[in-house]
Amino acid sequence: MDVSAASVNPLTIAVDALVVNLFERTTQPSGITASVDRALGGIISDLIAAGDASGRPGEVTVLYPRGAIAAHRVLVVGLGPANAFGAEAARNASAVAARRARDLGAKSVASVAHGAGVNALALGEAAQATVEGARLGLYRYLLDDGLEAFTLVDEDAGKLEVLRDGIRWGDAVAEGTRLARTLVQHPANVATPDHLAEVARGLAKDHGFAVTIGDRAWAEAEGMGSFLGVAKAAGYEPRFIVLEHDPSGGKEAPLVLVGKGVTFDSGGLSIKGRQGLEGMKQDMAGAAAVLGAMRTVGRLRSPRRVVALVPATENVIDAAGYRPSDVLTASNGTTIEIISTDAEGRLILADALAYAQRYKPRAVVDLATLTGAVNVALGSHAAGLFSNDDTLASNVSASAQRVAERVWRMPLWPEYLTALESDVADLKNSSGKPAGGACVAAAFLERFTSYPWVHLDIAGVHAVETTEGYRVKGPSGYGVRLLADWITKA
Ligand code: BES
Ligand code: ZN
Ligand code: ZN
Repeated sequence: MDVSAASVNPLTIAVDALVVNLFERTTQPSGITASVDRALGGIISDLIAAGDASGRPGEVTVLYPRGAIAAHRVLVVGLGPANAFGAEAARNASAVAARRARDLGAKSVASVAHGAGVNALALGEAAQATVEGARLGLYRYLLDDGLEAFTLVDEDAGKLEVLRDGIRWGDAVAEGTRLARTLVQHPANVATPDHLAEVARGLAKDHGFAVTIGDRAWAEAEGMGSFLGVAKAAGYEPRFIVLEHDPSGGKEAPLVLVGKGVTFDSGGLSIKGRQGLEGMKQDMAGAAAVLGAMRTVGRLRSPRRVVALVPATENVIDAAGYRPSDVLTASNGTTIEIISTDAEGRLILADALAYAQRYKPRAVVDLATLTGAVNVALGSHAAGLFSNDDTLASNVSASAQRVAERVWRMPLWPEYLTALESDVADLKNSSGKPAGGACVAAAFLERFTSYPWVHLDIAGVHAVETTEGYRVKGPSGYGVRLLADWITKA
């Protein structure tokens, strides 16, 4: 789908569908909706008066102008109440309208930038949200959007530049999110560690990133005994991916992104049950978010120095695999007693977090489908946010709020670490008890950090159960928009 901006009178644009909008509880259409209403003899006003068009979120009223304007159809999409309006409502409305247009067989769609100027939503932000919503809402795994052209229209030629900028951002953010969704939806025999590495190589080629793909021997040379412990049983070879975007030529302390890349989590010898195995191809959603964010960073040519680290391996079963009771030595010398081979995410992240130290990073954010416990605590409504730095935590939270990818701060009290005291090593990889599981896992990770750090446990938010607005059933791509916002505002 080609996305562009046009400064034409919306009444004169010949498209299969023209999308305009309506706020809830308004008696009169406004802006371009009002011009369309007038051109169509007041039909939208009539529909409002009759209660047939309410402006509720998710509502789409389809009108056939029959030559009164150039568009073949008009889709009036509900924006919800004006006082609750913002970028999130714009994204959702745009998604719902774009899907309806596709369902009707439309190929060319023109849309207003939803809600520009309402509740301080700037035109560029409205344009971005409209494009993001359409692109994310139209997403289908391995299929194209189904639309050929999507045009943002505004009669005022003076607004074209701002619209174009919004499109550029919306496109870049949506493309990163779509990459993440696709990688997570790939089955485990497609999204192997090597596949993730190939995707990273492609990103490096497209955007001029530096890339290093570490194999088993490389990780051994790095002393990554924790990562390699998990990888011992792996049939698909492990990869440790390092991607770097460095417009500063090494002058700037980087922002480091770390993503858990367990391409299939069987639990290992501490094997999961039949139910628990379901969906475990998605245990690389953190890695996917990090790679997706790098796509966005590359497309936007962010001036920030950003490093992405992805330890990628499957966690399966083999006689050569690691066992409960084994002691692993991480690259920073920390010894770890294995209680559960199913607490593997923290083991591969330990070596990645230790690796991050060499960059003297300004900040590190890791994303991981780390614990079932975070889903028990927060459900699918927020990622658990853990941090050793209040300023960083509040910056990341502010980004989360701006892009509507919720986070909720959770504690990192030292008591959680006492649950991991071992008789034979520096620490255990699991307390062996369910209590405070997400917090105990985060406390384990903290042992490997020595810089401002945020951990996002995304095990509750990495997938969407039913399509709603731009959140399409399947992997959510959670984290790409948050990371992109954080990086570009850092
Ligand atoms: N990948 C899982 C966490 C998970 C569970 C993600 C459900 C998505 C949905 C992780 O590796 C794991 O198995 N964690 C264990 C930790 C326990 C053994 C300490 C868990 O949450 O049960
Ligand atoms: Zn596990
Ligand atoms: Zn896992």
